Amino acid sequence: MDIARTPSTADGNPQLADAAPEPKAPPEIRRQDYTPFPWLVPTTRLDFELGLEKTRVTATLEIERNPDAENSPTIRLNGDGLTLVSLSCDDGPCEGHMMDGDDLVVTLDGDRHRLTIVTEIDPSANSQLSGLYASNGMLCTQCEAEGFRRITFFPDRPDVLSVYTVSMRGPAAQFPILLSNGNAVQNGESGDGMRHAEWHDPWPKPSYLFALVAGDLVARKDRFTTMGGREVELAVWVREGDLERTEHAMESLKRAMTWDEETFGREYDLDVYNIVAVSDFNMGAMENKGLNVFNTKYVLADPETATDGDFDAIEGVIAHEYFHNWSGNRVTCRDWFQLSLKEGFTVLRDQLFSQDMHSAPVKRIEDVRVLRSVQFPEDSGPLAHPIRPDSYREISNFYTSTVYNKGAEVIRMMRSMAGEERFRKGTDLYFDRHDGEAATCEDFVVAIEEGAGLDLEQFRLWYSQAGTPKLKVALSHKGETATLALSQEVPPTPGQAEKQPMPIPLRIALFDRENGAHRGEELVVLEKEAATLNFDGFVDPPVLSVNRGFTAPVRIERDVARADLAFLARNDDDPFARYEAMQDLVVGHLLEVADESLGENERKAAREDIGGAMKAILEDDALDDLMRGELMMLPGVSYLMDQVLLADPGRISAEREALKADLGETLGEELRALHSRASAIGYSQDPQAKGARKVKSMALTYLAAANPAQASELAAAQYDAADNMTDRQGALMVLTGLDTAARTDKLLDFYERFRGNPLVIDKWFALQASSLHPQVIRHVEALANHPDFTLRNPNRVRSLYMAFTGTPQGFHAASGEGYRMIADLILALDPINAQTAARFVPALGRWRRMEEGRAALMREQLERIAAASKLSRDTYEQVTRSLG
Ligand code: PHE
Ligand code: ZN
Repeated sequence: MDIARTPSTADGNPQLADAAPEPKAPPEIRRQDYTPFPWLVPTTRLDFELGLEKTRVTATLEIERNPDAENSPTIRLNGDGLTLVSLSCDDGPCEGHMMDGDDLVVTLDGDRHRLTIVTEIDPSANSQLSGLYASNGMLCTQCEAEGFRRITFFPDRPDVLSVYTVSMRGPAAQFPILLSNGNAVQNGESGDGMRHAEWHDPWPKPSYLFALVAGDLVARKDRFTTMGGREVELAVWVREGDLERTEHAMESLKRAMTWDEETFGREYDLDVYNIVAVSDFNMGAMENKGLNVFNTKYVLADPETATDGDFDAIEGVIAHEYFHNWSGNRVTCRDWFQLSLKEGFTVLRDQLFSQDMHSAPVKRIEDVRVLRSVQFPEDSGPLAHPIRPDSYREISNFYTSTVYNKGAEVIRMMRSMAGEERFRKGTDLYFDRHDGEAATCEDFVVAIEEGAGLDLEQFRLWYSQAGTPKLKVALSHKGETATLALSQEVPPTPGQAEKQPMPIPLRIALFDRENGAHRGEELVVLEKEAATLNFDGFVDPPVLSVNRGFTAPVRIERDVARADLAFLARNDDDPFARYEAMQDLVVGHLLEVADESLGENERKAAREDIGGAMKAILEDDALDDLMRGELMMLPGVSYLMDQVLLADPGRISAEREALKADLGETLGEELRALHSRASAIGYSQDPQAKGARKVKSMALTYLAAANPAQASELAAAQYDAADNMTDRQGALMVLTGLDTAARTDKLLDFYERFRGNPLVIDKWFALQASSLHPQVIRHVEALANHPDFTLRNPNRVRSLYMAFTGTPQGFHAASGEGYRMIADLILALDPINAQTAARFVPALGRWRRMEEGRAALMREQLERIAAASKLSRDTYEQVTRSLG
């Protein structure tokens, strides 16, 4: 039994947190051990008597034996910190029942029974934000992955599907709005000031998709007619003052509904679609059937308070949750090892949607940037796991970039190999065949194989093997033939020493140096460990453009002349490949200088090449500004650190800043011209105006590195003139890194201007905490004591501390102070919100890839956390795995 997660510690209730129990490893759950549940639960009725401090839940389960499972004399109902008020079987006493740890085990002799279970919970004491909790005076639920067991005793596993009917009753003044899954059945008020409502969801679903919301909310309403003619009432529910900031969310929802009909043939299946925004939420949003619950961050936006990035993220997350209605809800997961079945696929779907709504190349570059700065480091560290993991102790720890983003890349590769049309045949077959089921990743692969006509036999390795493949690429030339040699190696990861080669699809093209063109691109699939390919008819050696569009999530090792990269950075007609050439050019240079292996002259020559390529980017009239902004971006510190075996973050970052200063200096005129051209374009949401805002702030960052005093003036002016958050935040970000009077001025102004708007105050915290300012540690310390800071709100915690973990001079300060701050945070947060606390552990887990001094300091902090007497299962697992 898991003693580390008794309700007392889990909810941080001090009077119950008595003598420390012996630390004990929580059990390991293994994919191989899956067995079907012995009982079916065709229907579930839930009656809630709502109160912020006391909610009584009566659950009525109709159960029958599962003909496809082994018979069992008992039924195990999961619980987590619940106290049983009463239990009855078939409306009378039960034959026998006992508590096994937190679970309730009931003895049953018949084939069919009715269980009635009463529990009582205190939502206001639930700081974990899992189960039923109070936020801002309202009640809401979060049940994925295992939150339902904090509400009532239930077979809380995704392969038990049930049809839910939910009734609620509570004080009308407090809870005028009562929502749950499905369609509203009835709704009214009784004479005693109590409000009641009943909801029925006709679609069988697992418990993790259950949701309930009760509170004083207002809605933006709209309608949507599906392709089959169903009239759907749409609503976005928020607190009174937030209504004006919901238009973008609603428009995004309608676009997503249309797109899924057109692109995947998926139609919505209820009469209502409700979205509720809550300010205390552990994740981005949740796809509960017909009742999505969202972090306010992914709902509320207007030009004054949200950046262009925020607008895009909202559209993406709204679409993501909507798409789950098919990839996740109609077809759900058999067990949590199959998480990528719904998440990888749904991320791919939302990425393709955003590609279609805006600039496809820019979206692709952004997605690759996230993958490489977050997932690649995960895949090369102690927490590496396959997209379909083999074991876990706490499933919340597996909502990772690997399961989500690499999962999406794996399915994207299938799509690249099949082509759009055949891929669609595969997904049609998948939805059709598994509608109403709890499926596996294997089911998905089989459906794509059959529907799209692909052989994925060996490709399945992408599901079982962790680690980012390394692909060596070499191009040689002899006579009139160019020869491409490819070889791959999948590095060892924890628990997987030996690896097999995996199919790697690569889009490639060979460029003629003279005319800057190629003869058409092709898709090659490296099936084995190594292969060579010949291309005839090249009198002169061509230039290779490889992994165009980032067709495969691999690391490319290519021995390529700087001149060839500079050539591609100017000429490649694949936007991703062009971006990549620029990145490689810079990465190659920064790694060389950080290695101290470069003389002054060589350094100058390299900078000239980079400067020349950047100048071409600034002056290329064929580029739109959104794309220009991407090409101007230097590789981030996290990505750079991931490129070296043992990183010294201070050095890497200093060299990166020096290059920025150099470019800002040599291209000062062009950058100022770009800034002023872009400043002349007025605010709108069209791509041209968005692009202008992007290059404007990019230009500022270079100028600030070269000439802080001058850039400070320019940034202060941009801040003052701003009529939107993108310009304002862009300017403030630059100022926050400088040591000028304008820094303090504008930070104060920003706070005063937006106090009372938590999402914008989050930005204020994050800007300061992520800054390259030398005093960032002192700033974070001070902000932790700011009256607006609280450990109880995950958005606020992330704004301050997650932002901080990206700072080379702060988190990675050679003194170890930054590491200690994060360890202190984890220890303080763990009893309050274990899921959020555990998410900070991976930052410390990177020790193996750090230079010795920092590695030791990071380990020291991990060990200090591991030694704490009462750790949540979440943090325990992450810390022990990180120590290796
Ligand atoms: N399933 C949610 C999503 O990806 C994420 C989530 C997981 C939210 C667990 C809350 C808890 O859309
Ligand atoms: Zn999801």
